[in-house]
Amino acid sequence: HCKEYGFIFQSSEIYDGLGAVYDYGQYGAELKRNIREYWWRSMTQMHDNIVGIDAAIFMHPTVWKASGHVDNFSDPMIDNKDSKKRYRVDHLIEGFAETLEKEKGDALLQQMDALLAANDFAGLKQLIDDNKMKCAVSGTCNWTDVRQFNLMFSTEMGSVADDANVVYLRPETAQGIFVNFLNVQKSGRMKIPFGIAQTGKAFRNEIVARGFIFRMREFEQMEMQFFVRPGTQKEWYEKWKETRMKWHLSLGISPDHYRFHDHVKLAHYADAACDIEYDFPMGFKEVEGIHSRTDFDLKQHQQFSGKKLTYFDTEINQHYIPYVIETSIGLDRAVMMILSEAYEEQDLSTAEKQDSRVVLKLPAMLAPFKLAVLPLLKKDGLPEIARELMDQCRPHFRCFYEEKDTIGKRYRRMDAIGTPFCVTIDHQTKEDGTVTIRYRDEMTQERIPLSSVK
Ligand code: GAP
Repeated sequence: HCKEYGFIFQSSEIYDGLGAVYDYGQYGAELKRNIREYWWRSMTQMHDNIVGIDAAIFMHPTVWKASGHVDNFSDPMIDNKDSKKRYRVDHLIEGFAETLEKEKGDALLQQMDALLAANDFAGLKQLIDDNKMKCAVSGTCNWTDVRQFNLMFSTEMGSVADDANVVYLRPETAQGIFVNFLNVQKSGRMKIPFGIAQTGKAFRNEIVARGFIFRMREFEQMEMQFFVRPGTQKEWYEKWKETRMKWHLSLGISPDHYRFHDHVKLAHYADAACDIEYDFPMGFKEVEGIHSRTDFDLKQHQQFSGKKLTYFDTEINQHYIPYVIETSIGLDRAVMMILSEAYEEQDLSTAEKQDSRVVLKLPAMLAPFKLAVLPLLKKDGLPEIARELMDQCRPHFRCFYEEKDTIGKRYRRMDAIGTPFCVTIDHQTKEDGTVTIRYRDEMTQERIPLSSVK
């Protein structure tokens, strides 16, 4: 559907594509932009104490040393010696656990979580061997040892290719916020607690990249770092969990389709962390992470840069390095979530005729187009009236104009891209100044004055 209707295309498709990289088409780009805008407004416009920035993708290489990404941003991997296929160890074990009875599978996952938390690679290998887990390609259990694999992409800056010039494509947008913490705080005269939000591209050399736009090598994040007084982080962590869940529910998605998942293995920077998971067609999976990142990042940047990154809290007369609560949602995953929720195949057959439609029940605020303006015929002055309505509405919201095909076909095309309202201009419009408005979800129609369409 995404390809057929111009939402998402495989990158470089005419060259057989590039693994786990995707392009957004004409409707996908609008949908993605609307989600981004909604997030941006809810973070910045709706909060006195959150501002947004736009940091560069390239950053000084020491940033990634300080953040721990050079040393720690890796996944334990294992290769099958016969097929040469490489697996993320957790994915291999999770896949195997799914083939077991629920109780046995859960016990296995618990064992895996404990071994991952302890970075016990020999133990993980043993677990794979003991359970005789097989490679899906070769069907054998002939495994290498478990090894770490760094996920950052690197490139060179400047003309001389030596180590000093290596720069990384950022694997998260968060660090652009941390290194600008004092710039924003001072120039914006921000008082703690306050937040800095940012949206932008991130890059990870994911080994097992699958699941369409769920796990990509180039993707977009929407992150917010909220700086708080040390000791208050637990309270803010809970508050942000609640606030973010409310945001999700405001998209009109049923609460049954969401759940929180607390992390067992905490990232190197966190003292508490959870995911908001959505019930995708392939099961519950993470869309957003909420992390209590302590003062880890600012402390590290202070140490590696040699620049003071403390804040003077006038209320308690103290200098300190703030603690941070982070909310981090993948924009592409949010697109996939919204599409999964909205997509519906409906059988509309009656005794007289077979009929069906595919409809995207997108929230109107996120739909690529809000209104389709459809003159019934290409003549009799109907297109002129339709064009006038377009001119009236298009400065305010995205409108679609179409005069080809039967009205039924045009409605179906609008259903498939999620346009909530279609307005048809017909001969009666010329007589009494009314139009037919058709509602996407119920497919009901009514006549309203042309002048009230906007
Ligand atoms: N700054 C914290 C951070 O980056 P993360 O849990 O690694 O945390 C946050 O990523 C969010 O970014 C995830 O919840 C997910 O929605 C999205 N994300 C991460 N890796 C992704 C990938 N390879 N493709 C698409 N989205 C991804």
